[in-house]
Amino acid sequence: MCGIIAYSGAQQALPILLNGLKQLEYRGYDSAGICINHRKRLKIARSAGKLAALEGILPDAMKGQCGIGHTRWATHGAPTEQNAHPHTDAAGSLALVHNGIIENTDQLRALLVEKDIEFRSETDTELLAHLLSLLMTEQQLNLVDAVRQMAAQLVGTYGIAVTSVAAPDEIVLARNGSPVIIGIGENEMLAASDKAALSRYTRDIVHLDDGEIALLTPQGFEVTTLDATVKTKPTTKLTGPIESYEKDGHPHFLYKEIVDQPETVSRTIGGRLDHQFNTAKLGGLNLEPRELLGVKRIKILGCGSALYAGMAGAQMIESLSRVPADAEAAAEFRYRNPVIERDTIYIVVSQSGETFDTLAATREIQRKGGFVLGIVNSVGSTIAREVNGGIYMHAGPEVSVASTKAYTSMLMVFKLFALMLGRTRDISPQRGAVLLESIQGMPDKINEVLTLESRIAEIAGQYCGVQSAFFVGRTTAWPVALEGAQKLKEISYIHAEAYPASELKHGPLALVTEQTPCIVIVPDDELLAKSIGTIEEIRARNAPVIVITDAQDPRINTLATHVINTPPTETLLQGVVSGVALQLFAYHSAVALGRDVDQPRNLAKSVTVE
Ligand code: F6R
Repeated sequence: MCGIIAYSGAQQALPILLNGLKQLEYRGYDSAGICINHRKRLKIARSAGKLAALEGILPDAMKGQCGIGHTRWATHGAPTEQNAHPHTDAAGSLALVHNGIIENTDQLRALLVEKDIEFRSETDTELLAHLLSLLMTEQQLNLVDAVRQMAAQLVGTYGIAVTSVAAPDEIVLARNGSPVIIGIGENEMLAASDKAALSRYTRDIVHLDDGEIALLTPQGFEVTTLDATVKTKPTTKLTGPIESYEKDGHPHFLYKEIVDQPETVSRTIGGRLDHQFNTAKLGGLNLEPRELLGVKRIKILGCGSALYAGMAGAQMIESLSRVPADAEAAAEFRYRNPVIERDTIYIVVSQSGETFDTLAATREIQRKGGFVLGIVNSVGSTIAREVNGGIYMHAGPEVSVASTKAYTSMLMVFKLFALMLGRTRDISPQRGAVLLESIQGMPDKINEVLTLESRIAEIAGQYCGVQSAFFVGRTTAWPVALEGAQKLKEISYIHAEAYPASELKHGPLALVTEQTPCIVIVPDDELLAKSIGTIEEIRARNAPVIVITDAQDPRINTLATHVINTPPTETLLQGVVSGVALQLFAYHSAVALGRDVDQPRNLAKSVTVE
């Protein structure tokens, strides 16, 4: 998704802006640009493609201590130089970068056409630059008041940074729905859409909230609302190491994030296992045991892989606590005017904590009086700040667009939550102890799966030329199948579909031939015989079958084309180990096909638009 960086201070702005954009690269983008405000002139460089292309066309002299930069992920208009940000007004007196989508563009365009303004791009952002300029010239407004007036006219989502020749050391920011974070330095101020771009320069940050405007100068900042009321904003301290995104010698961020999982899962469960009462300790829930006892239903909401983790989480919760639970796509939920129940806990799941649909669902539930818990990775993100209680994943920054370590940490958080809820009800201390032990053993199990890499890579290499693949699983293996198909399609571009095993014969079996490998996930559970029946059903159509299993049944070896034996694992955590095996399968398929593994086409990290 688009990224914003802004700087005003004592240092040269260009290297800081470029470095900030580099830290935002992981979000996915297709063009980039920079503007430096110096000596009453705006110097602008923009380019389609990656940052290296932008660096290649930078003029020799781009001096100046105030500027803005942007990485664009195309929504309105193709990823060209003309559509790249920053955009300027006709006179070139101000430049603006924007994340989000403006919805009332027809109305704004008509207003500008009436003033004979000509457009140079297909973007909604350019309209904002012209509109601001009109407000400044016709109504004699300063930049911050003009942004305020403009914001009042906008429908849609935006995170905006503007700089103008009229005030060469000022940056004005505005937010509605797209994150904007201020970084406080000494005699310098920064802003970005993601704290990763700031952490190298400051530890003190301020999150703008929707409907707020900020004026930055090298000396400080002032935040006001749309009605010009001054707001006092709390400063948040960034803790932990500087979020510098390095591959640490690995060929891709995705690979690093896959092999880091024993460590990230350890962090997720660290300090949360209560061996005295054989339950989990989850500090930030903001729910008393009595309230937990009154819960009648759990509803989980998320998007993409977070939704699939939520589906697995619902199974864990229902199985261990006997509280009915299900998961639904956040956007579908919010648009179907859902009934919000007093005794339901709504759980929103998000790695980035900024996914627009998940955030919008959170707000819709809260508006109707519902209680929302967040399972979030990114500390201080919008969802993390807005939910009524929450559990951080502590997986660390996930850089690659495709989710891996955050997905496994989501599963682990659900398992902890399910155990805790279960221990308020059905689960005995003895069973609790067994479940705790299985949770504690997960980093070692993941390590064992990682030792299977060369075999998985070999199989992936054998099948990466296919047009299509099926992923199949029953009950607990069904969300894993969905996630396995998701990983394969998004990074290798091989068409992949997931089906519950029982659904195969209701349609998709028509497509199963010797050309369509079927990846069957077979947990060692009470449905083992049925899963073996599924393998037989597929083999009867001559399709190659790759089985991922922790079962030792000899029939599997006889029937399957390939077997990947994962370590024996408690059924409800089986999705973690087979999930890691499927991540390796997708990764090696994508590498064999020469794909851009970390930034797959058309996809973005942190989807902050609808
Ligand atoms: C897939 C993937 C996406 C995200 C989805 C939600 O690998 O990464 O499907 O899971 O966009 O993102 P978050 O978790 O940030 O809300």
